[in-house]
Amino acid sequence: MERHGSESYFVIGEGLLGETVGGRARTLGPAREAQAPPFRFSRMGPSGANRQLSESLNEKLGKAMASGGGGASNVPAGFTYLGQFVDHDLTFDKTDVMLGENVSPADLLQARSPSLDLDSLYGAGPNDPASARFYESDGMHLKMGRTLASDGNAARQGFDLPRGEGSTQKAKRRAIIPDPRNDENLAVAQTHLAFIRFHNRVVDTIPASVPPALRFQRARRIVTRHYQWMLRTDYLPRICAPGVVSNVFTSGRKAFEVGATPTDVPTMPIEFSVAAFRLGHSMIRAAYNWNKIFDFGFGTLDLLFTFSAGSGDLGGGQRLLSTWIADFRRLYDFGEAGRADLVVPASKFNRAMRIDTKLVDPLATLPGFPAAERNLAFRNLSRARMVRLATGQQMATFLKSKGVTLTKLTTPQIRNGNGGVTLEELTEPQKAAFLKDTPLWFYILREAELNAGRLKGVGARIVAETFHRAMEGSQTSIVRDPTWRPTLGPDSSTFRMVDLLLFAFEGKKNLLAPLG
Ligand code: HEM
Repeated sequence: MERHGSESYFVIGEGLLGETVGGRARTLGPAREAQAPPFRFSRMGPSGANRQLSESLNEKLGKAMASGGGGASNVPAGFTYLGQFVDHDLTFDKTDVMLGENVSPADLLQARSPSLDLDSLYGAGPNDPASARFYESDGMHLKMGRTLASDGNAARQGFDLPRGEGSTQKAKRRAIIPDPRNDENLAVAQTHLAFIRFHNRVVDTIPASVPPALRFQRARRIVTRHYQWMLRTDYLPRICAPGVVSNVFTSGRKAFEVGATPTDVPTMPIEFSVAAFRLGHSMIRAAYNWNKIFDFGFGTLDLLFTFSAGSGDLGGGQRLLSTWIADFRRLYDFGEAGRADLVVPASKFNRAMRIDTKLVDPLATLPGFPAAERNLAFRNLSRARMVRLATGQQMATFLKSKGVTLTKLTTPQIRNGNGGVTLEELTEPQKAAFLKDTPLWFYILREAELNAGRLKGVGARIVAETFHRAMEGSQTSIVRDPTWRPTLGPDSSTFRMVDLLLFAFEGKKNLLAPLG
C-alpha cells in the first residue's frame, strides 16, 4: 500500500529522525541513492525535547479524538480531498519517476523538495523516459482511463485514472500516474482525474501553430499558475483565517525561511507536515452522498477506500465501475459561479466536517495497519513525539518572538474548547501535563474549533507561510510573478476550484455528474 505520510523525517541540521527508515521504494541505484539527499524537512520553531507527552497519554488522547466527528462545516467536502491532493504535490519525491542515474545534483535537490508545481500530476514531463507513460502519444495530453460498465451504466472513457499496465491483476489495477498516493481513496483519485482533464483542456487552447514541446510547456505553466491562484484565493481562506493568508501573501513571511533567495530550493517544516496540515484529517466525513446511486450516505469512507487501487481492489475489477464516478455537484458548490443549474438540493450536498479536535470514527481503524497502529489521531500524536515537535505553547511563543500578532490560547480554552474533545478520560496528572505541553496538532485544531472551524493564530500562520514559500520556490510561481492574473475564470482576479472544474469538464452537467 502506498503510504501518504512519511515514515522517516530527514531534518536539515539534525539528520534522520525516526524509528522506521526506508519509506518508499527508490528508483535510483544504490550508489546514487546513498549520495542523494532524502526529502528535505526542516524545523521552523524550537525543538520540543523534554516537552513530549508519554505514549500512553497520546494513546488515550488519540482514542478520544477519533471517536466521532464534531459536526459539519460550511466548507464543501471536495476541499478535503483537494487538500490531500495538495499534500501529495508538496511532499512528492520526484526521484521515484526520474529514473535517470544522470540527474544533476541540483535537479535531485529540487526533486526532493516541497513545491506547489504539480509534479505529482506531471512527473518529470513527457520527455523524461520514466514519465512518458503518463502521456498520450502526442506527448502533450495526459492519459485518462475508462470505467467498467456496471448495473446498466455504460463504460465511459475519461472517468477513471489510467490503468492496465503489467501482467498481474494487481499491476493492471494500479493507476498510471506519477504519484500513486493519489489513488489512496476514490475522492482523491477523482480529484487527480479532474486535474488531468484541466491540463488536457488547457493544451487544447494553445494554438496548433505552436510546436508540440512548447505547447506542453506553455499549458503546464498556465495550469500551475491557475492552480496556485486558486489555492491562494479559494482554498486557503476557507481553511485559515483570511486575514492571516492575505497578510502573509502581501507583507511576506515572518517565521519561515525569511529572506530566502526566492529561487533557492525550499524545505518542508515538520511543524506543517507533522501537525498543522494534518488539519485535513478532521475534515474527513465517515459517509458521503457520493452520487445518484450511492446516495443517502451509502458512499462510506470504507467504500471510498475499497474503490481505489491504493487501499482497496476497486471492488475486484481492474478498473473503476461506472457506478462510482463522482458527482462533482455534490462536492463543490457551483452556485458560487452562478451555475444554479449545477446546484443539488442541500440534502444531497456533502459538507466537510468542521476543523476541530474530533475525527470521525472510521479513522480509528485505518485499513492496512497493524491493530495497535490503526488510529490516525494516535499516529499523528506519536509521530510528533518521534520528531520531538515543538508544543503549541512553544510555537505560539516562537511566532510572537518573530513579530507575528497572535493571541495565545488560555488554559481554559485548551481544556474546554468549543464542542470538541473533552479531557474527562485523563487523570489529573495527565491533564496537568497536557495543559502545560499541548501537542501542536491538538493545539492548532483547538484554535480552529474556537474560530468557527478555521485555523487561526499558530495554525494559520504555519500553513500560510509554508504555502507561500512552496509557491515562491516553485519553478513556475505566482509569488515571483505578482503581476500575473488568471485568464480562465470569470474575470481577471477570480479563479476558484469551481472555475477549474467548470473549465476541466467543459461546464457540462453530463461530465461533472454523468450519472445524473
Ligand atoms: C481518507 C483520507 C486520509 C487518510 C486515510 C489519511 C491517512 C494518513 C496517514 C495514515 C498518514 C501517516 C500518519 C503517520 O504515520 O504519521 C497521513 C499523513 C498525513 N496526512 Fe493524511 N490522510 C487522509 C487525508 C488527508 C488530508 C485531507 C490532508 C490534508 C488536507 C492530509 C494531510 C496529511 C499530512 C500533511 C500528512 C503528513 C505527510 C508527510 O509527513 O509526509 N491527509 N495521513
